[in-house]
Amino acid sequence: MTRTALNRRRFLHGTGVAGLAGMIGTPAAVADVSLPGKTPPPYRVGDRYDFDTPYSRIGTDCTKWDYQIELFGDGIQVGMGIADLDFRAAPCIGEAMQARMQHENWGYLNRELGYASLKEAISRWNAERHGVMVDPGTIEIASGVHPGLIAGITTFSPPGSRVLLMTPTYEGFYSDLRYTNTVANESELVFENGRYHIDWDDLEARMTPDTHAMLLCNPQNPTGNVWSEADLLRIGELCLKHEVVVIADEIHADFVRTGVRYTPFASLPDKAIVNNSITCKAVTKTFNLPATKNAYWFSTNPVYVERVKKNHRADINTLGVVANEAAYRHGTDWLDQLLVYIDGNHAFVESYLKANLPEVTYTRAQGTFLAWLHFGEIMDRVGVVEKSEASQGSDTPMTETQVFEAWLAGNAGVQLNDGEAYGKGSRRCMRMNIGTSRQLIELALGNMTRAISAV
Ligand SMILES: Cc1ncc(COP(=O)(O)O)c(C=O)c1O
Repeated sequence: MTRTALNRRRFLHGTGVAGLAGMIGTPAAVADVSLPGKTPPPYRVGDRYDFDTPYSRIGTDCTKWDYQIELFGDGIQVGMGIADLDFRAAPCIGEAMQARMQHENWGYLNRELGYASLKEAISRWNAERHGVMVDPGTIEIASGVHPGLIAGITTFSPPGSRVLLMTPTYEGFYSDLRYTNTVANESELVFENGRYHIDWDDLEARMTPDTHAMLLCNPQNPTGNVWSEADLLRIGELCLKHEVVVIADEIHADFVRTGVRYTPFASLPDKAIVNNSITCKAVTKTFNLPATKNAYWFSTNPVYVERVKKNHRADINTLGVVANEAAYRHGTDWLDQLLVYIDGNHAFVESYLKANLPEVTYTRAQGTFLAWLHFGEIMDRVGVVEKSEASQGSDTPMTETQVFEAWLAGNAGVQLNDGEAYGKGSRRCMRMNIGTSRQLIELALGNMTRAISAV
């Protein structure tokens, strides 16, 4: 990206018009594949959505692009980090928001009245899409999955106690543990034949008397595991036996690859196991609405619901409710097409790496729009160990993968998430978000291949 483009971004921000046009900003890499300054091409042609044409987000103060340019400089060509999508939203969402905006009063929304229809839509989505019956009366609307997780941990895990995780796992869990003054109890998954599986002996051994809750991520960010019914039942049995409550984070539920089945924890055929859980989910990951701050949690166990509610506060915004409900009610067609596209992205990354950068191992994902990549000794060639060690006494100590993140940003113009943030077993790994146009994935992989080949 050029200085002029950056200045333009600041100018747009200063004038308050950033984000209006959709095609604002001119990231150097996207410039030749999008139409900066012009009206975006039609999103839907016939009955097909166009996910191929890159959609510039530059100038919207987004984390995935703007913040990386702020951190790493103008050389950033492709942001492949934080887990949101680069695509335009399903049109039904904007339409519903526009309709609500015709009424120009934004006073307090009543919880009973204002959430009732959203809860009904949530219940319907889970029944129709995933075959799990969720009583709307047991659903609590949250301002994010994190607030639900934090309420769950606060309820079941006193400060100082340990919370069970299967790692590598979502790095945000560690902030929830810090927030609740609890400690990670990490059971490392085993990597074999390109996939992760559970070390059952280790998992059970970690269900010690000071461990009262388990954060279960299904589908698992970042490894892409979609846990089978058999795995979930076995986890559930062990948790019951050792009095560990399952807090299931199923925010990635809708992102499964072709032929893969996601099993909601709440759908397991054992009532006692299901009653020992709460589930946290959201419309926002599925439909790329995370900044609308909306999510939900539920449990079949009324005692758990009442206990967790005492530790949960949600402040929701009106437009968020409108957007999230519209997505679940009318976004099915968009999502179905998107899932086929993401499936193709996974296949593309796997085959590209095999052909062009075989030293990098792609984890064979069953779900999510995330690719978990093992860089192995490439990181040695880049000198991450020495550079990380040298940074330890400084104001900005860096892990090995943080060094590699900065190296990739500087040498390939690509930002990936640094692996070591994902807990035990993440050494030499990086997370790449592939919820974007294939052209940008190809650009990122091409840049990385060239940079790595030169060391
Ligand atoms: C597994 C998982 N849980 C929770 C979140 C964040 O959820 P929210 O933004 O609703 O708090 C994410 C976001 O990437 C995630 O991947």
